[in-house]
Formats: sequence, structure tokens, C-alpha cells
Amino acid sequence: MSPATGVPPLTVTDLTVRFAGLTALDGVHLTVEPGTVHAVIGPNGAGKSTCLNVLSGVYRATCGSVRLGDHELTGLPPHRIAALGVARTFQNLALPPRTTVADSLLLGRHRLTRSGFVAAGLRLPSAVREERLHRARVREIAEFVGIAGHLGTPTGALPYGLQKLAELARALCMEPDLLLLDEPVAGMTADERRRTAAVVAGVRDSLGISIVLVEHDMGVVMRLADEVTVLDFGRRIAGGPPDTVQNDPAVIRAYLGTPDAPEDAA
Ligand SMILES: Nc1ncnc2c1ncn2[C@@H]1O[C@H](COP(=O)(O)OP(=O)(O)O)[C@@H](O)[C@H]1O
Ligand SMILES: [Mg+2]
Repeated sequence: MSPATGVPPLTVTDLTVRFAGLTALDGVHLTVEPGTVHAVIGPNGAGKSTCLNVLSGVYRATCGSVRLGDHELTGLPPHRIAALGVARTFQNLALPPRTTVADSLLLGRHRLTRSGFVAAGLRLPSAVREERLHRARVREIAEFVGIAGHLGTPTGALPYGLQKLAELARALCMEPDLLLLDEPVAGMTADERRRTAAVVAGVRDSLGISIVLVEHDMGVVMRLADEVTVLDFGRRIAGGPPDTVQNDPAVIRAYLGTPDAPEDAA
């Protein structure tokens, strides 16, 4: 498949998200260079999913800025952010179980569909031609991800790992510049993890798409990430290349807990 060209950098500055009485993100900054994998890691509740939710417009930032190239994303609704080339997958499965993989992927191309519903409903030649092109592209993407043999299967009938790959394929069907992945290998077998990691690496290396990877599996993070940002209680406690971050005392403390930390006062 041809690589994305002109992928813009993503720049997050001083990002803060507060929920009633709780600061989920506190002045976080990070930059995702074009065509790289930027991992966001940290213990449970650190603010990783909140970060993806702000980047995709699901949550609103309390303050701070998220820029994709020249575009300010904060304040835009999810469909506008998607239209600027940001696609995502969710921590939990999000594809309709009874819909075939092919139709789910085709729905992923919705924002790229030019002929409206009326033209498509009337089976006008332009709409038929367009649908044929979209189906061809869906097949190409399914082959890239390794699920082409399952295009006719209802998503819910596939093993978990393949369902997650179908979600990834659907996100790719939007032809994004930036892909947001929330724990893509969670719940997978070792085999499925290896396979998914290879697909993610392929997305970066062959398609040149930038990726924000939220992931618990440190093996996957260390193998895939070009750059890592570490969050703990909503704060950025470390950042840099994987091997630097891995040996950072603050990171080790955050993951292992501090043995001499005061117990809950109650
Ligand atoms: N919609 C929400 N309303 C209130 N609190 C939330 C909401 N979403 C997340 N939080 C809280 O924000 C913190 C960070 O959550 P989250 O971003 O899901 O962490 P992670 O993905 O790193 O495990 C948690 O304390 C969580 O309970
Ligand atoms: Mg999460």
C-alpha cells in the first residue's frame, strides 16, 4: 500500500483535564513526530485513556493545546478531528458483532464517501463505481492487516485477537495520518500479540502513519516505540527513547510502588 505523505506532527502542550474533584491530566506535553510510534504508558488510572479521549475529541481539555500540524484540535467535536485524519481504536471492542468484517470496514470509509446516501440508494452508476473502489481498498487493507480471509465473517464470530485486528483495519480504512491505539494487545494470546505488534510496526514502516500507542505490555512498548511518555497520576514523570525510560528511577518507582510510601491515613 502506498505510504501517507505530508503527515503532520502532533504537539500536545500543557494539557490538563479535570473531572469533578479529580485531575486526570495535569500539564502534560508530548510531541509525536511524523511516522513514529509514540507510546504513552503508566500505571492504571494514570490518565492514558483520558489522553486519547482528548486527542480524539471525546473529552474536552480543561486547558492546554493539541495541535496536528496547523490545526488546533482542542474544542473540535470527534467527527471534525476524524476528518482531519485522526483515527482510533478503543480499549474495549467496538465493532458491531453481527456485521461482517467487510461491511464494518466499509463503514470506516464513510468520511471518504463522496456520493451521498441518495445516490448510493438509487444505485446510480457513480455511486456503484465509488463503492467498488472502496471495496477494493477495504480488501487491500484487510490483506495488509492479515484478515482478508475473514471479510465475509460477522465480526462477533471471530476469535478475540482477530476482532481487535479488524478494529485496527477499520481505523486504517479512514486513511488516517495519525492512529490512536488504546491497549491494542490487551487480552490477546502471545501469538496474537506478536502478530498485532508486527502489523503496528508495518503501519509505521510501510504506511508512514504516526501512532500514539497506549499499552500495558512493556515488551510490545519497548519493541515498537520510538519515543515513550510516562504518566503517573496525570503527570508526565518521564519521557524519551524506550531504553532510557525503562531505566528511569521515577518510572520504576511508579510501576513498583514506593515501599516506604505512607499507608492510607484512614
Ligand atoms: N469520564 C470520566 N469521569 C470522571 N473521571 C474519569 C473519567 N474518565 C476517567 N476518569 C478518571 O481519570 C483518571 C484517569 O483515568 P484513565 O485515563 O482511564 O486512566 P488509564 O487509562 O491510564 O488507566 C482515573 O482516576 C479515572 O477514574
Ligand atoms: Mg485506559
